[in-house]
Amino acid sequence: MTPETARWWQRGIVYQIYPRSFQDANGDGVGDLRGIIQRLDYLRWLGVDAIWLSPIYPSPMKDFGYDVADYTGIHPLFGDMADFDRLLDEAHRRDLKVILDFVPNHSSDRHPWFLASRSSRDDPRRDWYIWRDPGLEGGPPNNWLSVFGGSAWEWDEATGQYYYHAFLKEQPDLNWRNPELRRAMHDVLRFWLARGVDGFRVDVIYHLIKDDQFRDNPLNADWRPGQDPFARVIPFYTTDRPEVQDVVRELRAVIDEFPDRLLIGEISLPIERLVAYYGADLDGAHLPFNFQLIDTPWHARTIDFLVREYERHLPPGGWPNWVLGNHDKPRIASRVGRGQARVAALLLLTLRGTPTLYCGDEIGMTDVPIPPDRVQDPFEKNVPGLGLGRDPQRTPMQWEAGPGAGFTAGDPWLPIAADADRVNVAAQRGDPGSLMSFYRELIALRTREPAFSVGTFRVIEAAGDVLAYERRHGGRAFAVAMNLGGEPHAAELQAGRVVLSTEGGRAGEAVGGAVALRGGEGLVVALDGA
Ligand code: NOJ
Repeated sequence: MTPETARWWQRGIVYQIYPRSFQDANGDGVGDLRGIIQRLDYLRWLGVDAIWLSPIYPSPMKDFGYDVADYTGIHPLFGDMADFDRLLDEAHRRDLKVILDFVPNHSSDRHPWFLASRSSRDDPRRDWYIWRDPGLEGGPPNNWLSVFGGSAWEWDEATGQYYYHAFLKEQPDLNWRNPELRRAMHDVLRFWLARGVDGFRVDVIYHLIKDDQFRDNPLNADWRPGQDPFARVIPFYTTDRPEVQDVVRELRAVIDEFPDRLLIGEISLPIERLVAYYGADLDGAHLPFNFQLIDTPWHARTIDFLVREYERHLPPGGWPNWVLGNHDKPRIASRVGRGQARVAALLLLTLRGTPTLYCGDEIGMTDVPIPPDRVQDPFEKNVPGLGLGRDPQRTPMQWEAGPGAGFTAGDPWLPIAADADRVNVAAQRGDPGSLMSFYRELIALRTREPAFSVGTFRVIEAAGDVLAYERRHGGRAFAVAMNLGGEPHAAELQAGRVVLSTEGGRAGEAVGGAVALRGGEGLVVALDGA
């Protein structure tokens, strides 16, 4: 692979925007499309190549847009179709690709398809959702659970059957075994692709097909009271069913009707199952999202192991990717501490594979404590007190000091972080030693040096808290070494010169042999004679 033969999404960096919290242009306390347009120059300055927008479709917002009531519209909260077309145009003029969230596993219970489906057992749309009679002893048809707590089956009095919902009861699952539904969804993709959208991130793609015999899920013997109630069973019959691969292949075929578009699959599965979503002939998702860095404890040896495992399991020609944060998981700066935030950035942006960066992580935003009366997330409301709520990582982007943090002139829908006067884009932009400046330098390095995007990857043997690897392309080679602990350590490296360091100040230093790293320090070294 060379920079010339690589596709844009292999060279590029994806930046996830959570639209409700990015930039509010009309003062209603919720971010919008015009707000995003205002910030495109910032994103270009930062150096990312693509933006992925969490859902912007009409929605009752029971799950903040992941309950779609119209797959081909824009929610008035965010603007209208003219705003969307302008966003697309303005992004493209700046060489930024636009990726939409596609939520095909379930719709809103307000979607006209579901209203029709639940209107009568004879309605032509009945089979577009998953309806079942009660179990033999009455009650739900089987033991399937909702990710957001309780049974996944909701009784419908009017038609005397249950419907299945993997998430909220307001998010009924669509029936992907129905060919008409499939065709309708393919047309949704075509609608946006024809408008110029560059790709999709497909929500919970591994959920799309459930067992056709509706067998009970096995119980999880390791589950203990006080843990996530969904983990009480193993979702064997409700996710990752063999037939889902056909569905993914068909989605990919639609994507391929248009030149140079991207299919990302959101998949929470262990590595050996995750890689199946590339498709048997690389005809599945281009990028099955890899959440290993989110889910793995922050220890050098554990990460060393998982990086090797991931590389080992990739199918030939399958392109890797790494995700460090998103709107569903605690923020990286909270998970690993601000002292490790630069090392985390270094890892994300120098590993082999497309990096996805979550808005706000570049300034080190941390999870914001949400007072009980301001909780918005239905997950927290349904399953309170277990730390599962996702509001803390969805708070408004911190652009500048002052009330509203430059995000809104109104009342923000979620509280703004207490440290926003200090931790914000404006303050960090003027400070060459800031985390954001480090991100920008790192992104520039990755963009400038093909070794980091298309180059080969080799782990360098290291011990204790040190993680190290080498990237190489076209006669240029770099060692990346980092200390994931708080105490000083040495990394054993070939001779070279430091080109970037997390602490700043070491650029240009000649190093080699046992290279000293302070706690939380990371280095990129251009190797001599490569
Ligand atoms: C995954 C999304 O990222 C999450 O925010 C959402 O609640 C569920 N899928 C259901 O759509």
